Amino acid sequence: MGPLELGLPARTPADAELPARVRIWEVGPRDGLQNESSIVDVSVKLEFIDRLASSGLSIVEATSFVHPQWVPQLADAAELLAGLRRHSGVSYPVLVPNEKGLDRALESGVSHIAIFGSATESFARRNLNRSLDEQYAMFEPVVTRARAAGLAVRAYVSMAFGDPWEGVVAAEQVVTVGKRLLDLGCSQLSIGDTVGVGTAGQVDAVLGGFVAAGTPLDALAVHFHDTYGQALANTLAALRAGVSTVDSSAGGLGGCPYAKSATGNLATEDLVWMLDGLGIEHGVRLNALADTSAWMAERLGRPSPSRVVRALRG
Ligand code: HMG
Ligand code: MG
Repeated sequence: MGPLELGLPARTPADAELPARVRIWEVGPRDGLQNESSIVDVSVKLEFIDRLASSGLSIVEATSFVHPQWVPQLADAAELLAGLRRHSGVSYPVLVPNEKGLDRALESGVSHIAIFGSATESFARRNLNRSLDEQYAMFEPVVTRARAAGLAVRAYVSMAFGDPWEGVVAAEQVVTVGKRLLDLGCSQLSIGDTVGVGTAGQVDAVLGGFVAAGTPLDALAVHFHDTYGQALANTLAALRAGVSTVDSSAGGLGGCPYAKSATGNLATEDLVWMLDGLGIEHGVRLNALADTSAWMAERLGRPSPSRVVRALRG
Protein backbone atom coordinates (compact mmCIF):
# COMPACT_ATOMS: atom_id res chain seq x y z
CA MET A 1 0.00 0.00 0.00
CA GLY A 2 1.34 3.47 -0.87
CA PRO A 3 1.46 6.27 1.65
CA LEU A 4 -1.68 8.00 0.33
CA GLU A 5 -3.79 4.90 0.94
CA LEU A 6 -2.58 4.93 4.54
CA GLY A 7 -3.65 8.54 4.94
CA LEU A 8 -0.07 9.80 5.07
CA PRO A 9 1.81 12.07 2.68
CA ALA A 10 4.94 10.86 0.91
CA ARG A 11 7.94 11.85 3.00
CA THR A 12 10.82 13.64 1.31
CA PRO A 13 14.40 13.62 2.64
CA ALA A 14 15.20 16.13 5.41
CA ASP A 15 15.82 19.65 4.16
CA ALA A 16 18.69 21.39 5.94
CA GLU A 17 16.98 24.78 5.56
CA LEU A 18 14.01 23.67 7.66
CA PRO A 19 13.78 23.10 11.42
CA ALA A 20 13.95 19.47 12.58
CA ARG A 21 11.02 20.04 14.94
CA VAL A 22 8.09 22.47 15.01
CA ARG A 23 6.22 23.45 18.14
CA ILE A 24 2.53 23.69 17.29
CA TRP A 25 0.60 26.27 19.33
CA GLU A 26 -3.01 25.11 19.11
CA VAL A 27 -5.49 28.01 19.25
CA GLY A 28 -8.74 26.20 18.36
CA PRO A 29 -10.53 26.49 21.73
CA ARG A 30 -9.76 30.23 21.88
CA ASP A 31 -9.32 31.73 18.38
CA GLY A 32 -11.34 28.92 16.81
CA LEU A 33 -14.39 29.36 19.00
CA GLN A 34 -14.36 33.05 19.95
CA ASN A 35 -16.24 34.04 16.81
CA GLU A 36 -18.96 31.37 17.02
CA SER A 37 -22.31 33.10 17.38
CA SER A 38 -24.11 30.30 19.22
CA ILE A 39 -22.64 29.60 22.61
CA VAL A 40 -20.86 26.25 22.76
CA ASP A 41 -21.53 24.44 26.04
CA VAL A 42 -18.60 24.39 28.42
CA SER A 43 -18.73 20.58 28.54
CA VAL A 44 -18.15 20.47 24.75
CA LYS A 45 -15.23 22.90 25.05
CA LEU A 46 -13.72 20.76 27.82
CA GLU A 47 -14.00 17.60 25.76
CA PHE A 48 -12.51 19.45 22.75
CA ILE A 49 -9.48 20.58 24.79
CA ASP A 50 -9.07 17.14 26.34
CA ARG A 51 -9.12 15.47 22.93
CA LEU A 52 -6.63 18.00 21.51
CA ALA A 53 -4.19 17.27 24.34
CA SER A 54 -4.74 13.51 23.87
CA SER A 55 -3.82 13.83 20.19
CA GLY A 56 -0.33 14.99 21.19
CA LEU A 57 -0.64 18.80 21.17
CA SER A 58 1.48 20.19 24.00
CA ILE A 59 0.20 23.79 23.91
CA VAL A 60 -3.55 24.33 23.82
CA GLU A 61 -4.64 27.97 24.13
CA ALA A 62 -7.76 27.44 26.20
CA THR A 63 -9.76 30.68 26.45
CA SER A 64 -9.60 34.44 27.11
CA PHE A 65 -10.16 36.53 30.22
CA VAL A 66 -11.54 39.45 28.22
CA HIS A 67 -14.68 41.45 28.86
CA PRO A 68 -17.58 38.95 28.64
CA GLN A 69 -19.69 41.42 26.68
CA TRP A 70 -16.93 41.83 24.11
CA VAL A 71 -16.57 38.07 23.54
CA PRO A 72 -19.66 36.33 24.97
CA GLN A 73 -18.51 32.92 23.71
CA LEU A 74 -15.62 32.96 26.21
CA ALA A 75 -17.56 34.36 29.18
CA ASP A 76 -17.25 30.91 30.78
CA ALA A 77 -13.43 31.16 31.10
CA ALA A 78 -13.34 30.58 34.89
CA GLU A 79 -15.75 27.64 34.70
CA LEU A 80 -13.74 26.17 31.85
CA LEU A 81 -10.44 26.35 33.72
CA ALA A 82 -12.04 24.87 36.84
CA GLY A 83 -13.18 21.87 34.79
CA LEU A 84 -9.99 21.34 32.80
CA ARG A 85 -8.46 17.86 32.93
CA ARG A 86 -4.81 18.86 32.78
CA HIS A 87 -2.53 16.48 30.90
CA SER A 88 1.03 16.35 32.14
CA GLY A 89 3.46 18.23 29.90
CA VAL A 90 0.63 20.25 28.33
CA SER A 91 0.39 24.02 28.74
CA TYR A 92 -2.96 25.85 28.58
CA PRO A 93 -2.27 29.55 27.91
CA VAL A 94 -5.07 32.13 28.09
CA LEU A 95 -5.47 35.59 26.58
CA VAL A 96 -5.37 38.49 29.05
CA PRO A 97 -5.76 42.13 27.94
CA ASN A 98 -5.60 44.04 31.23
CA GLU A 99 -5.19 43.84 34.99
CA LYS A 100 -8.83 42.89 35.52
CA GLY A 101 -8.30 39.96 33.16
CA LEU A 102 -5.07 39.05 34.96
CA ASP A 103 -6.83 39.03 38.34
CA ARG A 104 -9.44 36.66 36.95
CA ALA A 105 -6.78 34.46 35.29
CA LEU A 106 -4.72 34.26 38.50
CA GLU A 107 -7.82 33.26 40.48
CA SER A 108 -8.24 30.40 38.00
CA GLY A 109 -4.67 29.24 38.57
CA VAL A 110 -3.24 29.81 35.10
CA SER A 111 0.52 29.53 34.52
CA HIS A 112 0.79 30.95 31.00
CA ILE A 113 -0.84 34.06 29.56
CA ALA A 114 -0.76 36.01 26.30
CA ILE A 115 -1.29 39.72 25.83
CA PHE A 116 -2.48 40.82 22.41
CA GLY A 117 -1.41 44.10 20.87
CA SER A 118 -2.15 45.65 17.51
CA ALA A 119 0.27 46.93 14.87
CA THR A 120 -2.32 49.48 13.72
CA GLU A 121 -4.16 52.31 15.38
CA SER A 122 -7.53 51.28 13.88
CA PHE A 123 -7.45 47.75 15.23
CA ALA A 124 -6.12 48.82 18.64
CA ARG A 125 -9.21 50.99 18.97
CA ARG A 126 -11.63 48.35 17.71
CA ASN A 127 -10.20 45.36 19.54
CA LEU A 128 -8.98 46.94 22.76
CA ASN A 129 -10.79 50.28 22.98
CA ARG A 130 -7.35 51.87 23.26
CA SER A 131 -4.97 53.90 21.07
CA LEU A 132 -1.66 52.34 20.03
CA ASP A 133 0.15 54.14 22.84
CA GLU A 134 -2.53 53.33 25.38
CA GLN A 135 -2.23 49.63 24.60
CA TYR A 136 1.32 49.54 26.02
CA ALA A 137 0.16 51.31 29.17
CA MET A 138 -2.58 48.69 29.57
CA PHE A 139 -0.21 45.75 29.04
CA GLU A 140 2.77 46.96 31.08
CA PRO A 141 1.37 46.19 34.57
CA VAL A 142 -0.10 42.92 33.27
CA VAL A 143 3.30 41.65 32.11
CA THR A 144 5.14 42.95 35.21
CA ARG A 145 2.70 41.38 37.65
CA ALA A 146 2.39 38.14 35.67
CA ARG A 147 6.16 37.68 35.58
CA ALA A 148 6.47 38.48 39.28
CA ALA A 149 3.90 35.72 39.88
CA GLY A 150 6.06 33.29 37.85
CA LEU A 151 3.83 33.12 34.77
CA ALA A 152 5.11 32.72 31.23
CA VAL A 153 3.97 35.59 28.99
CA ARG A 154 3.53 35.59 25.22
CA ALA A 155 2.60 38.64 23.15
CA TYR A 156 0.65 38.78 19.91
CA VAL A 157 1.02 41.55 17.35
CA SER A 158 -2.10 41.62 15.18
CA MET A 159 -2.66 43.08 11.70
CA ALA A 160 0.99 42.40 10.90
CA PHE A 161 0.52 42.30 7.10
CA GLY A 162 -2.67 44.13 6.25
CA ASP A 163 -5.53 45.83 8.03
CA PRO A 164 -9.09 46.21 6.66
CA TRP A 165 -9.19 49.91 7.66
CA GLU A 166 -5.57 50.96 6.97
CA GLY A 167 -4.53 48.71 4.08
CA VAL A 168 -1.05 47.21 3.75
CA VAL A 169 0.94 47.43 6.98
CA ALA A 170 4.64 48.30 6.64
CA ALA A 171 7.10 45.73 8.01
CA GLU A 172 8.90 48.51 9.97
CA GLN A 173 5.69 49.34 11.82
CA VAL A 174 5.21 45.69 12.82
CA VAL A 175 8.82 45.42 14.01
CA THR A 176 8.51 48.63 16.07
CA VAL A 177 5.30 47.54 17.78
CA GLY A 178 6.41 43.92 18.17
CA LYS A 179 9.73 44.86 19.78
CA ARG A 180 7.96 47.22 22.15
CA LEU A 181 5.62 44.42 23.23
CA LEU A 182 8.53 41.99 23.67
CA ASP A 183 10.45 44.61 25.65
CA LEU A 184 7.65 44.71 28.21
CA GLY A 185 9.11 41.35 29.31
CA CYS A 186 7.37 38.80 27.09
CA SER A 187 9.27 35.67 26.15
CA GLN A 188 7.67 35.20 22.73
CA LEU A 189 6.01 37.29 20.05
CA SER A 190 3.45 35.74 17.74
CA ILE A 191 3.12 37.64 14.47
CA GLY A 192 -0.56 37.65 13.50
CA ASP A 193 -2.06 37.90 10.03
CA THR A 194 -5.45 38.57 11.59
CA VAL A 195 -7.35 38.90 8.31
CA GLY A 196 -5.26 36.43 6.29
CA VAL A 197 -4.10 38.79 3.53
CA GLY A 198 -0.31 38.39 3.81
CA THR A 199 1.85 36.64 1.23
CA ALA A 200 5.20 34.87 1.48
CA GLY A 201 7.32 37.85 0.40
CA GLN A 202 5.81 39.93 3.21
CA VAL A 203 6.58 37.15 5.67
CA ASP A 204 10.24 37.28 4.61
CA ALA A 205 10.24 41.08 4.95
CA VAL A 206 8.68 41.12 8.43
CA LEU A 207 10.86 38.29 9.79
CA GLY A 208 13.94 39.83 8.17
CA GLY A 209 13.04 43.12 9.87
CA PHE A 210 12.93 41.49 13.29
CA VAL A 211 16.24 39.70 12.72
CA ALA A 212 17.87 42.96 11.57
CA ALA A 213 16.54 44.62 14.72
CA GLY A 214 18.21 41.95 16.87
CA THR A 215 15.21 39.78 17.80
CA PRO A 216 16.23 36.12 18.09
CA LEU A 217 14.21 33.85 15.79
CA ASP A 218 13.36 31.51 18.64
CA ALA A 219 11.46 34.39 20.27
CA LEU A 220 9.15 34.57 17.25
CA ALA A 221 6.06 32.58 16.27
CA VAL A 222 3.70 32.94 13.33
CA HIS A 223 -0.09 33.08 13.40
CA PHE A 224 -1.76 32.90 10.02
CA HIS A 225 -5.45 33.08 9.17
CA ASP A 226 -6.33 31.45 5.87
CA THR A 227 -8.79 33.94 4.35
CA TYR A 228 -6.96 34.15 1.03
CA GLY A 229 -5.57 30.58 1.11
CA GLN A 230 -2.02 31.73 1.90
CA ALA A 231 -1.60 30.34 5.40
CA LEU A 232 0.36 27.20 4.54
CA ALA A 233 2.60 28.94 1.98
CA ASN A 234 3.30 31.68 4.52
CA THR A 235 4.09 29.06 7.15
CA LEU A 236 6.62 27.39 4.86
CA ALA A 237 8.24 30.78 4.21
CA ALA A 238 8.47 31.33 7.99
CA LEU A 239 9.99 27.88 8.56
CA ARG A 240 12.58 28.56 5.87
CA ALA A 241 13.37 31.86 7.57
CA GLY A 242 14.09 29.96 10.82
CA VAL A 243 10.85 30.20 12.83
CA SER A 244 9.88 26.98 14.59
CA THR A 245 6.71 27.84 16.55
CA VAL A 246 3.53 27.86 14.46
CA ASP A 247 0.00 28.70 15.61
CA SER A 248 -2.89 26.78 14.11
CA SER A 249 -6.43 25.78 14.88
CA ALA A 250 -7.85 22.25 14.79
CA GLY A 251 -10.14 21.87 11.80
CA GLY A 252 -9.35 25.43 10.63
CA LEU A 253 -11.89 27.01 12.98
CA GLY A 254 -11.54 30.66 13.76
CA GLY A 255 -11.85 34.36 13.19
CA CYS A 256 -11.78 37.58 15.14
CA PRO A 257 -15.08 39.25 16.03
CA TYR A 258 -13.42 42.69 15.79
CA ALA A 259 -11.69 42.19 12.41
CA LYS A 260 -13.92 42.46 9.38
CA SER A 261 -13.38 39.49 7.00
CA ALA A 262 -11.17 37.40 9.31
CA THR A 263 -11.82 33.71 8.69
CA GLY A 264 -10.38 30.56 10.18
CA ASN A 265 -6.80 30.02 11.23
CA LEU A 266 -4.39 27.75 9.44
CA ALA A 267 -5.86 24.28 10.09
CA THR A 268 -3.68 22.18 12.39
CA GLU A 269 -4.32 19.10 10.23
CA ASP A 270 -3.15 20.93 7.08
CA LEU A 271 -0.01 21.99 8.93
CA VAL A 272 0.62 18.47 10.24
CA TRP A 273 0.21 16.99 6.75
CA MET A 274 2.84 19.35 5.38
CA LEU A 275 5.22 18.80 8.31
CA ASP A 276 4.86 15.02 7.94
CA GLY A 277 5.71 15.28 4.26
CA LEU A 278 8.79 17.35 5.07
CA GLY A 279 9.93 14.94 7.79
CA ILE A 280 9.60 17.61 10.50
CA GLU A 281 8.77 16.34 14.01
CA HIS A 282 5.68 17.75 15.76
CA GLY A 283 4.37 15.10 18.16
CA VAL A 284 0.75 15.12 16.93
CA ARG A 285 -1.23 12.05 15.88
CA LEU A 286 -3.02 13.19 12.72
CA ASN A 287 -5.79 10.59 12.82
CA ALA A 288 -6.77 11.40 16.40
CA LEU A 289 -6.74 15.10 15.56
CA ALA A 290 -8.86 14.70 12.42
CA ASP A 291 -11.37 12.62 14.44
CA THR A 292 -11.55 15.45 16.97
CA SER A 293 -12.14 18.08 14.31
CA ALA A 294 -14.81 15.94 12.62
CA TRP A 295 -16.48 15.51 16.03
CA MET A 296 -16.29 19.28 16.68
CA ALA A 297 -17.69 20.04 13.21
CA GLU A 298 -20.72 17.91 14.09
CA ARG A 299 -21.19 19.86 17.33
CA LEU A 300 -21.02 23.15 15.38
CA GLY A 301 -23.34 21.84 12.68
CA ARG A 302 -21.15 22.49 9.64
CA PRO A 303 -18.24 20.75 7.90
CA SER A 304 -14.67 21.53 8.90
CA PRO A 305 -13.00 24.06 6.58
CA SER A 306 -9.74 22.05 6.81
CA ARG A 307 -8.88 20.47 3.46
CA VAL A 308 -7.08 17.60 5.19
CA VAL A 309 -9.99 16.88 7.55
CA ARG A 310 -12.35 16.82 4.55
CA ALA A 311 -9.99 14.56 2.59
CA LEU A 312 -9.56 12.13 5.47
CA ARG A 313 -13.03 12.24 7.02
CA GLY A 314 -15.32 13.82 4.43
P1 HMG B 1 -13.09 48.69 28.03
O1 HMG B 1 -14.56 48.79 27.85
O2 HMG B 1 -12.22 49.82 27.57
O3 HMG B 1 -12.77 48.35 29.55
O4 HMG B 1 -12.62 47.35 27.31
P2 HMG B 1 -12.51 49.31 30.77
O5 HMG B 1 -11.12 49.11 31.23
O6 HMG B 1 -12.97 50.71 30.45
O7 HMG B 1 -13.52 48.72 31.87
C1 HMG B 1 -14.93 48.80 31.69
C2 HMG B 1 -15.63 47.73 32.51
O8 HMG B 1 -15.27 46.45 32.02
C3 HMG B 1 -15.26 47.74 34.00
O9 HMG B 1 -16.40 47.33 34.71
C4 HMG B 1 -14.22 46.66 34.09
O10 HMG B 1 -14.14 46.06 35.36
C5 HMG B 1 -14.74 45.66 33.07
P3 HMG B 1 -17.28 48.38 35.57
O11 HMG B 1 -16.31 48.99 36.52
O12 HMG B 1 -17.77 49.37 34.54
O13 HMG B 1 -18.33 47.53 36.16
N1 HMG B 1 -13.63 44.86 32.53
C6 HMG B 1 -13.55 43.53 32.53
N2 HMG B 1 -14.38 42.57 32.96
C7 HMG B 1 -13.98 41.29 32.83
N3 HMG B 1 -12.78 40.94 32.30
C8 HMG B 1 -11.93 41.85 31.83
C9 HMG B 1 -12.33 43.21 31.94
N4 HMG B 1 -11.72 44.36 31.58
C10 HMG B 1 -12.52 45.35 31.94
N5 HMG B 1 -10.76 41.49 31.30
C11 HMG B 1 -11.07 45.53 26.99
C12 HMG B 1 -11.24 47.03 27.20
C13 HMG B 1 -9.63 45.26 26.63
C14 HMG B 1 -11.43 44.80 28.28
C15 HMG B 1 -12.03 45.08 25.85
O14 HMG B 1 -11.74 45.85 24.75
C16 HMG B 1 -11.88 43.62 25.51
O15 HMG B 1 -12.26 42.73 26.29
N6 HMG B 1 -11.32 43.31 24.30
C17 HMG B 1 -11.04 41.95 23.89
C18 HMG B 1 -11.37 41.75 22.44
C19 HMG B 1 -10.98 40.34 22.04
O16 HMG B 1 -10.96 39.41 22.85
N7 HMG B 1 -10.67 40.14 20.73
C20 HMG B 1 -10.29 38.86 20.20
C21 HMG B 1 -8.91 38.42 20.63
S1 HMG B 1 -7.61 39.15 19.67
C22 HMG B 1 -7.46 38.12 18.28
O17 HMG B 1 -8.30 37.27 18.05
C23 HMG B 1 -6.24 38.24 17.42
C24 HMG B 1 -5.22 37.08 17.65
O18 HMG B 1 -5.82 35.82 17.36
C25 HMG B 1 -3.97 37.28 16.77
C26 HMG B 1 -4.31 37.56 15.28
O19 HMG B 1 -5.08 36.81 14.67
O20 HMG B 1 -3.73 38.52 14.79
C27 HMG B 1 -4.73 37.05 19.11
MG1 MG C 1 -6.06 35.01 15.38
